[in-house]
Amino acid sequence: MDKIRVVGGNPLAGRVEISGAKNAALPAMAASLLTADTIQLENVPYVRDILTSRKLLQEMGAEAEVRDDGTAILKAADIHSREAPYELVKTMRAAILVLGPLVGRFKKARVSLPGGCAIGARPVNLHLMGLEQMGAKCEVVHGYVEASTEGLHGARILMDTVTVTGTENLMMAATLADGETVLDNAACEPEVSDLAGLLRGMGAQIEGDGSRTIRIQGVRELRGCRHRIIPDRVEAGTFAVAAAITRGDVEIVNCCPQHLTAVLTQLAQTGAEISVEPNSLRVRGKDPIVSKSMTTHPYPAFPTDMQAQYMALMTQGDGSAVITETIFENRFMHALEMIRMGADITIDGRQALVKGRKPLTGAKVLASDLRASASLILAGLVAKGETWVDRVYHLDRGYCRIEDKLARLGANIERVS
Ligand code: EPZ
Repeated sequence: MDKIRVVGGNPLAGRVEISGAKNAALPAMAASLLTADTIQLENVPYVRDILTSRKLLQEMGAEAEVRDDGTAILKAADIHSREAPYELVKTMRAAILVLGPLVGRFKKARVSLPGGCAIGARPVNLHLMGLEQMGAKCEVVHGYVEASTEGLHGARILMDTVTVTGTENLMMAATLADGETVLDNAACEPEVSDLAGLLRGMGAQIEGDGSRTIRIQGVRELRGCRHRIIPDRVEAGTFAVAAAITRGDVEIVNCCPQHLTAVLTQLAQTGAEISVEPNSLRVRGKDPIVSKSMTTHPYPAFPTDMQAQYMALMTQGDGSAVITETIFENRFMHALEMIRMGADITIDGRQALVKGRKPLTGAKVLASDLRASASLILAGLVAKGETWVDRVYHLDRGYCRIEDKLARLGANIERVS
């Protein structure tokens, strides 16, 4: 199993190009099930979750090609299976995103119920509640969601918790429903708006994406189209923290700074110097790093997917910071590994008190999930000596060869098989 070896101490410098967003490409690939026509996606990141999604579509009977130049060609003309099997869903929870399109177009779906994961229980009750309000019958049998309908109809659906894939699933299902669907307390992440843009390109009638109320007027059928996936704001945020923590100077290109406002505002408060252009930003890390508390919330607030990386930065702060995680109940696994590197972190439920001014020392550490693995690499970039990050298969799910990109910025880092 691959490991990543990092030797700390080098300030990063140079230019890094950001890939397309995994969390925008995954719902876009699921959306291809809504039509028999060809969907061509561009700027698709060549990461493991995308390849799992390709496999899922192929197993259903779709033609699905993903190239490492960022192009994906998808055609769901001969779908013979409406099932997402346990073997695939257990490796990628986002496979739940085929549920809405399958019920919307084929009126039937059998999708393995995603279990919990390292960061939390992560139920999908709101996905099922919304489909039932649109006229589907959803049952959980032998670990599978069995959903069926005579035909979906419009409904007003209030989700009591903001859910990203829940909003995406119901939005996709509603595109082919009879009548108007209104999603209240909807997620307004940029990935949701990117999906709405693709669906409109396919002929869907959608308004209000990017706000907490989305309106979808159902149509009889959807058609093929081409769509460019937005840049990955979490990858861009990860490199911004890498520049700040190493006191480096990095230009981050092919990104969308306005999708990162909360992250950049927080980083600026920690003393990093940030300059923004339309599709790029420059981050210069400064001494001292100012300790600043932070709380995660749904977009447009500070994203939970940047919490672990931010914690790494706060281990090098000039005082104390309290990090509050409001989205997932168990998203501090990385803190225990950072403590093994010498960090001073105290966890109390969904709050972590991070005391700075503690030099880190390299250690063998274990990644528990995608963003935790990135945060341990960031900690390794400033630790004395060698850090070995194990279980980097988590990393490969959502980052495209991050160690190569960091090495090009001057990091002493390599993948060891
Ligand atoms: C998406 O997950 C992202 N994944 C996650 O990114 C991200 O952390 C998360 O949104 C929050 O921003 C993809 O887009 C593929 P949620 P999702 O439903 O949709 C509760 C990464 O690192 N909830 O918005 O699964 C849930 O338990 C990943 O790239 C219910 O209670 O997250 C959580 O506490 C990790 N019932 C909260 O809502 C439901 O039916 C938000 O979860 C659904 C969710």
